[in-house]
Amino acid sequence: MSLTPAFLDELRARTSLSALLGKTVKLTRAGREMKGCCPFHNEKTPSFYVNDDKGFYHCFGCSAHGDAIRWLTDHQGLPFMDAVKELAAAAGMEVPAQDRHAAKRAEKAKSLHDVMHAAADFFVQQLGAIDGAEARALLDRRGVTPASAKAFGIGYAPDSRTRLRAALKDFGDAMLIEAGLLIQVEGKEPYDRFRGRLMIPIRDPRGRVIAFGGRIIGEGEPKYLNSPDTPLFDKGRTLYNLDRAAPAARKADRLFVVEGYMDAIALAQGGVGEAVAPLGTALTEAQLERLWRVVDVPVVCLDGDTAGQKAAIRAAHRALPMLAPGRSLAFVTLPDGQDPDDLMRAKGAAAFEALVREAEPLVDRLWKHELAAEPLNTPEQRAGLKRRLSELAQSIADPSVKGEYQAEFRHRFDEQFARNRPGNNFQQRQPFYPMAQRRPGQKWTPPPPPVTEDAKKVRAAGGIDRVLAKAVLAGLIRHPAEIARHMEVLGSLKLADGALGRLFEAVVDVALEDRRDGTLDSGRLVTILARSGFDTVAHDLLRADTMPYSFTRADGDMTQARADLDEAIAILVTRPEVDAALAEATSAMQSRFTDEAFERQVALVNEQRALDERLANLVQANEDARALGPEDD
Ligand code: UTP
Ligand code: MN
Repeated sequence: MSLTPAFLDELRARTSLSALLGKTVKLTRAGREMKGCCPFHNEKTPSFYVNDDKGFYHCFGCSAHGDAIRWLTDHQGLPFMDAVKELAAAAGMEVPAQDRHAAKRAEKAKSLHDVMHAAADFFVQQLGAIDGAEARALLDRRGVTPASAKAFGIGYAPDSRTRLRAALKDFGDAMLIEAGLLIQVEGKEPYDRFRGRLMIPIRDPRGRVIAFGGRIIGEGEPKYLNSPDTPLFDKGRTLYNLDRAAPAARKADRLFVVEGYMDAIALAQGGVGEAVAPLGTALTEAQLERLWRVVDVPVVCLDGDTAGQKAAIRAAHRALPMLAPGRSLAFVTLPDGQDPDDLMRAKGAAAFEALVREAEPLVDRLWKHELAAEPLNTPEQRAGLKRRLSELAQSIADPSVKGEYQAEFRHRFDEQFARNRPGNNFQQRQPFYPMAQRRPGQKWTPPPPPVTEDAKKVRAAGGIDRVLAKAVLAGLIRHPAEIARHMEVLGSLKLADGALGRLFEAVVDVALEDRRDGTLDSGRLVTILARSGFDTVAHDLLRADTMPYSFTRADGDMTQARADLDEAIAILVTRPEVDAALAEATSAMQSRFTDEAFERQVALVNEQRALDERLANLVQANEDARALGPEDD
């Protein structure tokens, strides 16, 4: 038999978390919670909350989060099974015989975190010791203040093959090797991987050290020695500094991608906390996904030299298949031979901000690159350009973004070469109206008018999806108990739409963390969201009783609210699918007009219309609904 979720739930339920934590942390009552100074990081004002009802603690400062078991493993350092046994003994429960493998796995991940934590401590301590003098001088020369060094946990690995191994010997060689801290060569004693290097800890999104980048103190190769991939560290999925940059980025609504550790550190020291760096490789898809989970348009900052510009184009190409409405990249080019760190030191944050204002959208970058790639003097060469541009657009998966890129490239191409073709002035070309398409012998149907005044207002307020998405979010924040029923569809909305998409995701995340008891209440949800950098959006949404839906109102009838919320979510999920299908049908018809294509287009327009009607019904279901005010986020 193994430890079933039911057993663990019972164990948590019988444990008073505040009593358990109260042994270590001074807690005072704050409403329905207890709060105190966080034991996982250094702080003077309390941001560590303990909720006995729900059985978890959460730190709004460092995101430490867990239940009674996690407390004993993460804070008290007990192996998982020991934590369970200790709690069970206190609660008078009998521990069932354990599943060996599962328990072992949990313990192992746990101890690797411990090893990395201990190593980071060791390196920091060494930086302050006599041997650390050269490393301290390097930091000094580089203008890294002691405060930044501390904030980023920078340390020093002494120039020795044995010091770390000796200091961490309690963990055992096998574990130190698995953590990437020792190197094992056949038939020899394992020895320290990092020697005589400035040590920069690489943290996971929760702020735990998972790897190190070690910079050589003087000249030499390699300049940086990094941890190998380990069970904790996957280089291609990690972004340096994401844990600190993400909250800053949500506040500032921008996120920079720089090349090096030192760039991220220098920017943060200069007040630009929202910068991350890949680990010396080209941006991977996984890294792009992570960036887009934070902001819509991450800004890639690269050196103006050839290597930097190659990297920029590589990032642009990699991003193309993954673009979505609203989701893109922008590029900042640094003056030749400089990185953000050099720039910050030479000219300060103002100079960096000035470059940022000149950031180039992805489409410009691609266009310029292709335009400069080959000569364009002959028709064949120009046709070549056309084909390259079309291939780029073709690589975009999202049909509506793809359509926009095709149109944009066509437009730019025509403008660029307009001199040679007076008859083809793009500026005078009519925009394309799908329903106005007319063929000899074909009956022409006018485009259907917007269904109702309400639907018109919805459109005017920024497009049906955004407004509806906001209303649904407001409804979910008001009725968090409904989130669980919609988890699956909500998951699919997460990436749909910029800032709102991220808020969806955050709401779902919070609800997931809490799903055990499913009693997350609205106030709590808003607090958690606000502290994760969603202050403005979340609060605006809760003022959402200006929205004319039963589920956004504080005083709405619960049965009605539930039913309407279901309907709204159904519309929200279906609408983009229909839109996308219509965009595709339209573009298909642009290239070749067939009866089937036309039929399909008409059917889709009707579908759109039906959805509008359903939405309008939802609005009218509220007699005293007020008109939709102008919306913004
Ligand atoms: P840079 O050479 O630009 O590093 O490499 P940097 O951060 O600006 O370092 P300083 O300013 O010279 O001290 C960019 C990134 O590439 C990876 C590291 O992640 C580095 O931050 N890199 C570079 C390596 O992994 N190994 C190397 O030998 C060099
Ligand atoms: Mn540098």
